[in-house]
Amino acid sequence: MSRPPATSHDLTASKFCPPELDRERLPAHVAVIMDGNGRWAESRGLPRVMGHRAGVEALKATLRLCSDWGIGALTAYAFSTENWSRPGDEVNFLMTLFERVLQRELRTLEEEQVRIRFLGDLEALPLKLQELISDATDRTAGNGGIHFNVCTNYGGRRELVRAAQRLARQAANGDLAPEDIDENSLAAELFTAGEQDPDLLIRTSGEHRISNFLLWQLAYAEIHVTDVFWPDFNEKALKQALLDFQSRSRRFGGLDPLTP
Ligand code: IPE
Ligand code: IPE
Ligand code: MG
Repeated sequence: MSRPPATSHDLTASKFCPPELDRERLPAHVAVIMDGNGRWAESRGLPRVMGHRAGVEALKATLRLCSDWGIGALTAYAFSTENWSRPGDEVNFLMTLFERVLQRELRTLEEEQVRIRFLGDLEALPLKLQELISDATDRTAGNGGIHFNVCTNYGGRRELVRAAQRLARQAANGDLAPEDIDENSLAAELFTAGEQDPDLLIRTSGEHRISNFLLWQLAYAEIHVTDVFWPDFNEKALKQALLDFQSRSRRFGGLDPLTP
């Protein structure tokens, strides 16, 4: 895999899965609620938006680590349907930041074989951002590396309503019998269609809630909450989350295979 010149973040990153982790039992799909940007900035006497800028670096480093360590998919919560209620200046800063980062990083994503997609109601985003999203999605669609999903204007409830509407439309057209609606057909109408459900959900900044993220898909995810603010999330914190994941017994409603 070709790599761009090292940044300060790269200097600490390991190219290979750390020996403490069991490579055979890594999550195939990691979801992350990147929370605490504002508090990270405020704790340094900086404006909140500086936390968002620093958060981008943490996301880039996390993506690269997941890719290097062999995790198949990373889904990151970047902007919720509820985040529009923030002050206009902060919302505008975030939209401009998304545009700048996409423009700046697209070439690296292409080189590193990342397949990027944006999940959410994208029509409500600024036109320029929509164009950049569409270009980045198209240009990386054939890449064989990590699936990187960025949830932008995403809300789990809205996603489920949208799926219900799409199924209802098919039923009204006579293309689908209501009794044929099952978990697979509903999942196929979600933004995440085709992606397997996350095995691990990480939430930073110590908040123990889901905040309308992937309500359907997280049904059996293991949840790891860390007090670290998102901009401070690094290799050590990711390793900790993966070790925590590997210490869990996933029963999916059944019994532990080791139970006599
Ligand atoms: C998460 O950080 C980023 C977004 C929601 C866009 P916050 O901005 O929520 O930071 P805190 O939770 O206020 O510290
Ligand atoms: C969740 O964080 C949304 C994102 C990380 C994009 P919030 O900061 O918006 O969530 P709450 O308000 O603490 O639940
Ligand atoms: Mg927050």
